[in-house]
Amino acid sequence: MTVMIHSEGLSKTFTLHNQGGKSLPVLNGVDFAAEAGECVALHGPSGSGKSSLMRCLYANYKPTAGRVLVRHDGTEVDITNAHPGRIVEVRRHSLTFVTQFLRVIPRVATLDIVAEPLIQTGTPEESARTRAAELLERLRIPQALWELAPATFSGGEQQRVNIARGFALPRPILLLDEPTASLDEANRDTVIELILEARAAGAAVVGIFHDAEVRGRVADRLFSLSAQKAAA
Ligand SMILES: Nc1ncnc2c1ncn2[C@@H]1O[C@H](COP(=O)(O)OP(=O)(O)OP(=O)(O)O)[C@@H](O)[C@H]1O
Ligand SMILES: [Mg+2]
Repeated sequence: MTVMIHSEGLSKTFTLHNQGGKSLPVLNGVDFAAEAGECVALHGPSGSGKSSLMRCLYANYKPTAGRVLVRHDGTEVDITNAHPGRIVEVRRHSLTFVTQFLRVIPRVATLDIVAEPLIQTGTPEESARTRAAELLERLRIPQALWELAPATFSGGEQQRVNIARGFALPRPILLLDEPTASLDEANRDTVIELILEARAAGAAVVGIFHDAEVRGRVADRLFSLSAQKAAA
């Protein structure tokens, strides 16, 4: 199988500068890997570092030690040390991160927010908008909202717009941090279907799923993070 993303000796210690410089070790030499076509669930108690690991995998957090290698364009890119332009390129084509909260872009219509990842990578505008509309429909966003900016949408609506945007352009590595957290049952089932479709199409999916039923339905295996000891 092809390893799509992996970490080697990944450590992250937060230094709390405004709290007397206390240090908080969260990740300690994590070796993680996800292959094409599998879904790995990050597992562990609250505060064990699941979201921190995911942010390191996406290069949102810079690790204290170790590195993260991402398969991109036939090679492996160490995104812990790549320059910002390279990170943008890797994210645009190879790596998506769906967080629980939509980063609202003022005044941009929902349909355009969802279509953007497609347009940015060369899909003609009309087919990008068609694909965006399909996803919004599947995720039960009423058509009356498509031309509105999502700033005033409900939490669950914003989360579904974010999911639609994350799935609009199928990328080979998909990171999901609690994608079903504020969704009703029907939409939760749709998200499960989208994850299973991505996995079947060969994506490497890394997810945090607090809902045990969701986890049971999508995850091939668990990757456990244990609680860290309190910092000295
Ligand atoms: N930017 C940051 N600055 C300082 N500490 C942080 C930062 N991000 C995370 N932490 C700390 O790292 C620890 C792990 O947090 P993280 O969010 O990764 O946990 P988690 O496993 O995702 O928890 P949950 O299940 O509650 O979402 C926590 O103690 C948190 O306070
Ligand atoms: Mg978390």
